Amino acid sequence: MKILVVGSGGREHALAWKLAQSERVQTIFVAPGNGGTATDARLKNIAISDPAALADFAEQEHIALTVVGPEVPLAAGIVNIFRARGLKIFGPTKEAAQLESSKDFAKSFMQRHHIPTAEYQTFADLQAAHAYIDAKGAPIVIKADGLAAGKGVVVAMDLHEAHAAVDMMLSDNKLGDAGARVVIEEFLAGEEASFIVMVDGKHILPLATSQDHKRLLDQDAGPNTGGMGAYSPAPIVTPQLHARVMREIIVPTVQGMAKDGIVFTGFLYAGLMIDDHGNPKTLEFNCRMGDPETQPIMARLKTDLVQVMEHAVNGTLDSVELEWDRRTAMGVVMAAAGYPDAPRKGDVISGIPPETADSVTFHAGTSLNDKTLHSSGGRVLCVVGLGDTVKLAQKHAYDVVEKIHFDGAQYRRDIGWRALNRKH
Ligand SMILES: Nc1ncnc2c1ncn2[C@@H]1O[C@H](COP(=O)(O)OP(=O)(O)O)[C@@H](O)[C@H]1O
Ligand SMILES: [Mg+2]
Repeated sequence: MKILVVGSGGREHALAWKLAQSERVQTIFVAPGNGGTATDARLKNIAISDPAALADFAEQEHIALTVVGPEVPLAAGIVNIFRARGLKIFGPTKEAAQLESSKDFAKSFMQRHHIPTAEYQTFADLQAAHAYIDAKGAPIVIKADGLAAGKGVVVAMDLHEAHAAVDMMLSDNKLGDAGARVVIEEFLAGEEASFIVMVDGKHILPLATSQDHKRLLDQDAGPNTGGMGAYSPAPIVTPQLHARVMREIIVPTVQGMAKDGIVFTGFLYAGLMIDDHGNPKTLEFNCRMGDPETQPIMARLKTDLVQVMEHAVNGTLDSVELEWDRRTAMGVVMAAAGYPDAPRKGDVISGIPPETADSVTFHAGTSLNDKTLHSSGGRVLCVVGLGDTVKLAQKHAYDVVEKIHFDGAQYRRDIGWRALNRKH
């Protein structure tokens, strides 16, 4: 069987790596892939990115199943295009992907269906937005409505910052169309967790929980990034909280979409803020897996992912029971010099050790030129360590990180600190 994975990041390397473990797989194509997917003999990169051209490719190659990693092709309707041509694909339609591609859509959806989230209002008018900020006070959160590759949210700790964020989006058009409308919402305090499920239109299959590290520097200092590391499971998500998130957020979301006439299929990711009393609220939805959360999650998945995906596209996820490695998986991102503002490209990468029973390195911004691996993006690698304890998983990850070299590499030394500090 041939499978197509769409995307080029660490998430897609991890998905392709896991799919390739299935005995039933002949080839996995990754479009466009990266230096890691280029070096793995079971994977084959193809330089196609246009959704219609990918559908042509899937038809010609008799691809049994396509899995989409990133949000941009989903929001562009790649699932609609594939389905219209009778091709099997796992992901949300363009309509369903609005849960991620429009924050205003997601907020009004949550309000309509009584899904816990921060209080908000949406503005296109500059003066009205400024007036709302003055009325509400700081801290307050300003979000561009559209997709902004992680650069569309300003958590403003004072009024000056809040007004400046609104000017940047609505008046200076720094984010283009994505910032033509802004959601202004209540600041929520607490601890974040990533809650990801698979949905086949009807049935919901939760994946293992995880927690990301958004800030560039240790102790959650420095600018926001795409994510500097993640681990699974996230101990903050106790079995009780898990049940509550399913009951109050995930199930009402899938049912609410159906009520609104949109069948949700694909990965559904709820970004949660959990307050001091353990009450969860939804910060946002993504309609795909997280990056870097996918890397530790895939490292722990024992079940054949091809089989799971087949159930997902056939509407039979209710017959799947996932088996997880009981160990903790800790993913540490190694980023390029200058990340996140202006990542440098072209540094030679050396020293990546082969995969072992307790570590695996996933590539993100890498490319293979003349058999040499170079950096080609902001987040370069994600090293995953596995261990019976959080501490051991962390040690296994950092042992590998220290063996890898490229000039200017940036990484946090404290990935996993929340789980380590937790008293059980
Ligand atoms: N209402 C909020 N209160 C406090 N922090 C928030 C709030 N909304 C978002 N954030 C912070 O901003 C980050 C990015 O916001 P999010 O809605 O996830 O947008 P995106 O991932 O599309 O950039 C979150 O991970 C969280 O740290
Ligand atoms: Mg987010």
